[in-house]
Amino acid sequence: MKKRIAVLPGDGIGKEVTRGAVDVLKAIGERFGHQFYFSYGKIGGSAVDSFGTPLPDETVELCRESDAVLLGAVGGPKYDQLPVHLRPERGLLKIRKELGLYANLRPTLYYSSLAESSPLRKEIIEDVDMVMVRELTGGLYFGKPSERSTQNGQDVVVDTLFYQREEMTRVIKLAFDLARQRKGKVTSVDKANVLESSRMWREVAEEVSKAYPDVTLEHVLVDNAAMQLIKNPRKFDVVVTENMFGDILSDEASVLTGSLGMLPSASLSEKGPYLYEPIHGSAPDIEGQNVANPLASILSAAMMLRLSFGLEEEAKAVENAVNEVLNAGYRTKDISSFGKKQVSTTEMIEEVKATI
Ligand code: NAI
Ligand code: MG
Repeated sequence: MKKRIAVLPGDGIGKEVTRGAVDVLKAIGERFGHQFYFSYGKIGGSAVDSFGTPLPDETVELCRESDAVLLGAVGGPKYDQLPVHLRPERGLLKIRKELGLYANLRPTLYYSSLAESSPLRKEIIEDVDMVMVRELTGGLYFGKPSERSTQNGQDVVVDTLFYQREEMTRVIKLAFDLARQRKGKVTSVDKANVLESSRMWREVAEEVSKAYPDVTLEHVLVDNAAMQLIKNPRKFDVVVTENMFGDILSDEASVLTGSLGMLPSASLSEKGPYLYEPIHGSAPDIEGQNVANPLASILSAAMMLRLSFGLEEEAKAVENAVNEVLNAGYRTKDISSFGKKQVSTTEMIEEVKATI
């Protein structure tokens, strides 16, 4: 198989961990006889430095011509003083918009070897295997108006939660398709007791579910979902929710695994290319020290193999290699504990490659 992959390392540890994902994809290519062609583009602060914009047109073009996009992370203190339109995060919001990425998938998986890195008790997190599906193009983050004004001498402010029914339908359908390949359960999270948008969301979920008699649908209110995630995370298979609820709940779910450095993600569109990135940021506090955990980026590459290229065996080979390396006791600093072999970013990458 021949595939073109756009690589956007971005800033800070984004550069360090993305090297790991690329190296691992190369190793997979060698072992299974695929040709992956990598082309590099700039995004975020590093793009501001070279092009004066966080998302140059060249980068968008490069992504559009590719079969999949691998992203590192953007941002850093050096860019915090820039005006809003030049901030690195703008580059990220804009590439999502340009590529029509409407669903963000964040799997949370229990690693028995890392049980001691989670703040939660082993009995609670044992065997957790869930995917959060977050709507990415609508809701409060994009609704207009979003502005301040003065009414009768009072400062007032408004944000708008706007959705088209179709935006709800496509992401909920995607969640059902995913559940069908997994444990057959969709939990739709809303605030239907208060919000009209949530009442429509629930209606759409019911409608979509009619075409999936083999998948169970349950509705959970968002405040209850926040509690259940910590009390009883095993009850979840696929969780689907609107943009802001998903933003908050997916960070909460990430705690179950133990470290931000372990969590991959995929963002899907109608036609592709899809975009893969670790959920963590550019971590300026550890940048340049060769201590960042590259596994979230490497596991994002596994998601790419599975979801963009349909290479299930190859994806499993990456996930198994990560498991083996953890079981053998190799740990980057963030997941290190007594009696384990602490290794650097580059050593961790080498271990995973060697295992593949
Ligand atoms: P962060 O995710 O960069 O770091 C949070 C904490 O987790 C830090 O202590 C960091 O050292 C640690 N950490 C993160 N990834 C790690 C890894 N792979 N291995 C070991 N430790 C890891 O979030 P923070 O500090 O809030 O933001 C830093 C910068 O990143 C900001 O400019 C922010 O805007 C940006 N950011 C970018 C994101 C993206 O590109 N998708 C997402 C989140 C933040
Ligand atoms: Mg967030």
